[in-house]
Amino acid sequence: MRTARATAETASRTVLVTGAAIGIGRGAAMAFAAGGDHVVVTDILEAEGQACVEAIGSAGGSAEFARLDVTSTSEADALVAEIEARRGGIDVIVANAGIAHRVPLADLSDAKWDETFDIDLKGMFRVIRPALAGMRARRSGAIVCLSSIMGYAYGWDEHVHYSSAKAGVVGLVAGLAVELAKDGIRVNGVAPGYIRTAQLLSEKNSLGPEGAEKAAAFIPMGRLGEPEDIAEVIHFLASPAARYITGQTIAVDGGLLVGRY
Ligand SMILES: NC(=O)c1ccc[n+]([C@@H]2O[C@H](COP(=O)([O-])OP(=O)(O)OC[C@H]3O[C@@H](n4cnc5c(N)ncnc54)[C@H](O)[C@@H]3O)[C@@H](O)[C@H]2O)c1
Repeated sequence: MRTARATAETASRTVLVTGAAIGIGRGAAMAFAAGGDHVVVTDILEAEGQACVEAIGSAGGSAEFARLDVTSTSEADALVAEIEARRGGIDVIVANAGIAHRVPLADLSDAKWDETFDIDLKGMFRVIRPALAGMRARRSGAIVCLSSIMGYAYGWDEHVHYSSAKAGVVGLVAGLAVELAKDGIRVNGVAPGYIRTAQLLSEKNSLGPEGAEKAAAFIPMGRLGEPEDIAEVIHFLASPAARYITGQTIAVDGGLLVGRY
């Protein structure tokens, strides 16, 4: 369903962002739109997704909302085909949608494991796969996937499924990058530290507001990250300035990994 739309005649690239209604994905959508790209804001949260498109439009940018559940291969295939037919291709994919549910090992069922992998890892491949033929034909494309320091470097207790999926994202990035390099397509990852979003501020599933502020004391830069801190790195990785970077997952964590000993 596509109801909200903001347009600017000058929009150049077409950028698809998953999980873009709130948090880091929303920040990425805003950053690409601010840089003159047309952004397809996708999410299962329709009202928040429409609000993101309206915010982009108010700022003079170009965007549209499309509902996309990354657990659906048919939805991903259909949306990518429709955007390609209408706009001539997808230039950038930001595979950002993710969940991080707290589940102690004793309760970690097959279903919970599979749900997390289906969204956090396979959900990325599902959206990337149908866009590859077009990118290959045009010999151009940039893909950025969201990993996490809790998978890239740290383990996270009661989130073993999440750490495993996010470690998988590092492998997804590396594998895709090597296979696609000769086709002019770059694939990179970002591993955020503690970023102030609904995910981090959830008492049930993560640190909660108080825990997040306590964690900030351990971050060398002395503060939590904001969605914009990640969004600008995603934007850079998808830009011509990053033309010789592929297969990398970059930690963006205010110095947390190098400062914790
Ligand atoms: N916030 C952090 O501190 C942090 C740290 C490391 C990694 N990350 C990663 O960054 C990404 C964004 O995280 P965030 O903090 O903005 O989270 P968030 O919870 O604020 O937003 C996640 C978005 O993904 C969407 N989503 C969930 N399931 C979906 C599905 N099946 N299909 C489509 N969309 C779906 C949600 O609706 C939401 O809009 C995630 O992959 C997350 O794991 C976040």
